Amino acid sequence: MTGGEAVLPGLLAELRDKARARLDPVHWDFYEGGAGTETAVAENVLAFRRLALLPRVLRGAGPVDTRVTLPGARARTPVVIAPTAFHALAHPDGERATARAAAAAGAVLITSMASTTAVAEVTVAARSVCEDAAVWFQLYLQPDPEVTHTLVRRARQAGCTALVVTVDSPVFGRRPRDDRNGFHGLPPGCATENMRDLPGAPPDGTLDIAMSPALSWDDLRRLRDHHELPILLKGVLHPDDARLAVAEGMRGVIVSNHGGRQLDAAPASVEALPRVADAVAGRIPVLLDGGIRSGSDVVTALALGATAVGVGRPVLWGLAAEGEDGVARVLAELQADTAHVLALCGAADCTAPTRDQVVVRGPHGVAGC
Ligand code: FNR
Repeated sequence: MTGGEAVLPGLLAELRDKARARLDPVHWDFYEGGAGTETAVAENVLAFRRLALLPRVLRGAGPVDTRVTLPGARARTPVVIAPTAFHALAHPDGERATARAAAAAGAVLITSMASTTAVAEVTVAARSVCEDAAVWFQLYLQPDPEVTHTLVRRARQAGCTALVVTVDSPVFGRRPRDDRNGFHGLPPGCATENMRDLPGAPPDGTLDIAMSPALSWDDLRRLRDHHELPILLKGVLHPDDARLAVAEGMRGVIVSNHGGRQLDAAPASVEALPRVADAVAGRIPVLLDGGIRSGSDVVTALALGATAVGVGRPVLWGLAAEGEDGVARVLAELQADTAHVLALCGAADCTAPTRDQVVVRGPHGVAGC
């Protein structure tokens, strides 16, 4: 068990145990593991445990409204499904199951470019449950711009309403568990379906997803100018990068260390959030992912400046444990807990919690964040 997950609340602990028992240990390690010493994986969770919420009282808040407005989406919950690769390893229904559960919960789904289901089928599954389900497409900019453009056109045709460009991966993270297990690709019968029929792809095969350290803001500008979809940048930790994102017309930033799978020395996402929120100063939405395991975590992130939060591994636990129902249970639990914690904090909606309500636990009491 990674250090952070020792403190999981009930339902998530149950689904995590069930997922672990069901999954091939190599696939479990792929989902659960991270880069290097897995310090960033653990710290994402532990950093939330170091923070406390100061409730406000007698606010006359009334019933809690958890709806949030995001680029290309009006969601019933501030909990978004973060993009994760290879859902077919967790369950035969793969991303279709995830999409149906997200749509039923009114949650935005960010579907990964590295999904084992083509984006058009993901959106069909989501819309089979709810006609205006919001699906965003996560993209790694490819060194060949034609590959990138083809992927974006397909996402748009499929009905995705925003692009999430992941920028924390100039190179693949070094993940000791995967190295030890020799896990470097999908088993026969599974493929990264979005990568078929692309320029340079082998006939009847898929193109490898490439990472490139040569990419720059110029490449992002080309993408922005070529397509109409709003773009959110995922993997922003430095406040100056957040400022640049605003200046370059990005429609949102996602504060994320990729679930601790890229730079092991990165801070916990929540540690980076306040400075990014200050830099953005309300001009575009700021989202956060990494270590969200309870309603308290969600409300802490909202109070520190997030508009919404993403969840990665808990969704995979639900999917592996119980398929679509398991994902639905994870989303329902986080939604109910978020509404409950908002009420206990005297907040009427997701914009109400403020930074002065977050304090750092310490041996001598609490200090402001
Ligand atoms: C990821 N993540 C990720 N991010 C991304 O932009 N594209 C991707 O394909 C993937 N794939 C992926 C696979 C697996 C197995 C994991 C665990 C994570 C990162 C993900 O979007 C998110 O940043 C983290 O998962 C959030 O941390 P938690 O919620 O898992 O603690």
